[in-house]
Amino acid sequence: FNVPAPSNEPVYSYAPGTKERALLEAAIQDARAQEADIPMYIGGEEIRTDKKVKITPPHDHQHVLGYYHQGDKAHVEKAIEAALAAKADWESLPWEQRAAVFLKAAELASTKYRYQLNAATMLGQSKNPYQAEIDSACEFTDFLRFNVAYMTEIYAQQPPANSKGVWNRVEQRPLEGFVFALTPFNFTAIAGNLPSCVAMMGNVVVWKPSNTQIYSANVLMKVFKEAGLPDGVINLVYVSGPEAGDVIFKHPDFAGIHFTGSTGVFQDIWKTIGENIHRYKTYPRIVGETGGKDFILAHPTADVAVLNTALVRGAFEYQGQKCSAASRAYIPKSLWNDLRTRMETDIASFKIGGTEDFGNFINAVIDEKAFDKITSYIERAKNSADAEVVIGGTYDKSKGYFIHPTVIVAKTPDYETLTEELFGPVLTVFVYEDENWAETLTLVDQTSIYALTGSIIAQDRYAINEATHALRNAAGNFYINDKCTGAVVGQQPFGGARGSGTNDKAGSMINLLRWVSPRTIKETF
Ligand code: ALA
Repeated sequence: FNVPAPSNEPVYSYAPGTKERALLEAAIQDARAQEADIPMYIGGEEIRTDKKVKITPPHDHQHVLGYYHQGDKAHVEKAIEAALAAKADWESLPWEQRAAVFLKAAELASTKYRYQLNAATMLGQSKNPYQAEIDSACEFTDFLRFNVAYMTEIYAQQPPANSKGVWNRVEQRPLEGFVFALTPFNFTAIAGNLPSCVAMMGNVVVWKPSNTQIYSANVLMKVFKEAGLPDGVINLVYVSGPEAGDVIFKHPDFAGIHFTGSTGVFQDIWKTIGENIHRYKTYPRIVGETGGKDFILAHPTADVAVLNTALVRGAFEYQGQKCSAASRAYIPKSLWNDLRTRMETDIASFKIGGTEDFGNFINAVIDEKAFDKITSYIERAKNSADAEVVIGGTYDKSKGYFIHPTVIVAKTPDYETLTEELFGPVLTVFVYEDENWAETLTLVDQTSIYALTGSIIAQDRYAINEATHALRNAAGNFYINDKCTGAVVGQQPFGGARGSGTNDKAGSMINLLRWVSPRTIKETF
């Protein structure tokens, strides 16, 4: 099929004096000057309720960006009805017409809406301009363009053989029912991808974003609407998780969930679906990307400069609020002193503050709940005989939820910050004796329930080979001499197994195949 060949959207630098920088600054000022009034979107209608919830920037929690209209169970029911009402027309559209909607959305997101999307991500989720750019301008656009290309490959696949007088074919049907997209705060791109890739394959969607991402979800919805997405195909609701779950998981037309979020929530959802399985017309597709406790393992032959960069970028970009963030490091004793000095120097150079000052590298964590959770781990480490806080360890929530990048050295390999997901700017280091390399490989593999991302930093080719094999199941995205974050759509399909999810690789054909139900047709002449 002839669709525009996808390529990764170029990343703007926002260097001082550039036109792009002026446009982004203007978009931020514009957003800050307004009080947004954010409705739900059900069946093409904007829904406002009498329960308005304040939205504030995590780095400046006294400033009001606007309000969103909170819904309840009745809105979820209405969203399902609207989705099911839109289904017949949407799924009967030729795939080219659906593809065109999402290609147009990619065009809008990377041009007309680029600065507005980035500004919303910076203000609402406290990302610096470069991280917002990589996320909402580039990764979101890449998801749309590459998924359209994968979609065409799926529709083109047919059985390789026919016997005499027979024509075999496969028809890729959308799922019978509606799909629930439950999306996280940390990537605007993921929030946009989860409902859109499902809809692309002819499905209808009820979408519930994280409460802390509604500000940019509203801009994503504007992009989809302006791109010509028909009413009711994606319905955006703001309700509590339990209220949404109570309606959705009991509904006979529930056909699947596309989820990114915590392991605990995903496991509860899986159980609830199991308990309600007798109610559904079809076995629902359960696709989820969940937690991580991502590692960087250094061999004694590691280049310490490479290791340092991998750690400070992997652990502290976006305040460590990436499921892929490096949060545990295994460092040979022979490299530790040199590495520690380099990390101290780099971290001391990081400016911390609000996103509107483009010089700030570290911004705020998403909300007070996250702040309290992360800082409680830091306090326990300060008071534990099994740990030592060697860098950072300070925090302040008077203006925004700021936590200084923190490095903890754990003295036991099962110390809590080596095994549990904190989702914040905290890196825990375990220093091993150089001769214990083989035992350390086992530790890295066995210490955590998660298996999302991980890196080996080494110059010795035998060590790289050994780690690649020994850690085969410890990460769905494995990096050699690089940080364990920053997977690029179309280049490194993203996802992990074990406690990290169903490993249906975001931005891949594997993922899109979960949203179709093939029918095999045999015709005899
Ligand atoms: N795709 C994001 C990363 O790899 C989550 O960091």
